[in-house]
Amino acid sequence: MHMRKHVKGNVSWVGYLDWELETFHGDDYSIFHGSSQNSYLIEEEKTILVDTVWGPHHHTFIENLKQEIDLKKIDAIIVNHGEADHSGALPALLAEIPGTPIYCTAMAVKSLEGQYGKQGWNFHVVKTGDELDIGNGKKLQFVEMRMLHWPDSMAEFLTGDNILFSMDAFGQHYATSELFADLADQNVLWHEALKYFVNILNPFAALIPRKLEEIGKLNLPIEMIAPSHGAIWREKPFPILEKYAEWAKGEPKDQVVIAYDTMWNGTKKIAHAIEAEIKRQSPSTVVKVYHIAKSDKNEVMTEVFQSRAIAVGSPTAINDILASVTGWLAFAKSLKFKGKKAAAFGCYGWSGEGVAILQKRLAEAGFDVIDENVKSLWNPGEEDFAKVPELVKALLA
Ligand code: FEO
Repeated sequence: MHMRKHVKGNVSWVGYLDWELETFHGDDYSIFHGSSQNSYLIEEEKTILVDTVWGPHHHTFIENLKQEIDLKKIDAIIVNHGEADHSGALPALLAEIPGTPIYCTAMAVKSLEGQYGKQGWNFHVVKTGDELDIGNGKKLQFVEMRMLHWPDSMAEFLTGDNILFSMDAFGQHYATSELFADLADQNVLWHEALKYFVNILNPFAALIPRKLEEIGKLNLPIEMIAPSHGAIWREKPFPILEKYAEWAKGEPKDQVVIAYDTMWNGTKKIAHAIEAEIKRQSPSTVVKVYHIAKSDKNEVMTEVFQSRAIAVGSPTAINDILASVTGWLAFAKSLKFKGKKAAAFGCYGWSGEGVAILQKRLAEAGFDVIDENVKSLWNPGEEDFAKVPELVKALLA
């Protein structure tokens, strides 16, 4: 059972601290430090619920809420976006309080009706600039957050308490009983904030500076940023805003990721030869080596995001590359990395298309692919290793 936690003024956290969650978006996002589905209760003259929780937790959520308030006192529910981790408890909640007004974007109506059917819910469509008077001199001011990270996303600002309910933006998949970011383990917090940005928001990174500018122009006296996952930010100036502005630029560190899969360790040997050569040519460059089939892809992509170049290896197998590398490259493509060099390498025994396929798919994934490569028949020998310095030189240039 999770009781309410005081956020600020008459605002409480009433969400679900999900210590057991292991994956998100199906199995597409690994969770190593739990997560939370943040729901907020605002009790002014009007009582407002901001978002709910994922469907499997609806019973706990509603029972906890009943211990805090008479559900019939809820005057409106804000649905910041329709994704199931925040709207899953909505059908059960509305079964208890049918007809309660739901404030959301037009796209969120589509999302909710698409998922839960046309149930005649009492939608009130809002857009940027719209306001909801909640009494005691306070208002909720809505800001559309289209494509951050889905078309239906929005945020709202609570005047008086000056809280920005930012939805998924600025969140982290991180369960922290301390509630506030400044009280949390800083290493975990910032790693999870970056991992979330890379794996959820990076495809839309180009929109972020514009949105930050738009929010800045509203001159909102933000004192707290309350996202839909993880810890709440309350220390000013908000380091998470600075980090989002920095991450949106996608400027890498002096780092190279080498990612490979291997059948009989030949491609692995090339990977480590490239690693050693990078350290020889550029001792200050950070090098990280990952066996794709055995490494968590979300963690590796977080490292790719921070890298200026990558080298990807796969042996040729059945006129193709290994399926693990195909899947990894498809995921990398979806994250829309920009401005990174890439090299390909791998062993083959018969037909040998692997390196050319890697180069093609790396280019399709948005990497600047160098011509230099290492393509080794059976096992890498002297001739193959002799190509590594040229590959590394071009990769680091
Ligand atoms: Fe946390 Fe986009 O749902």
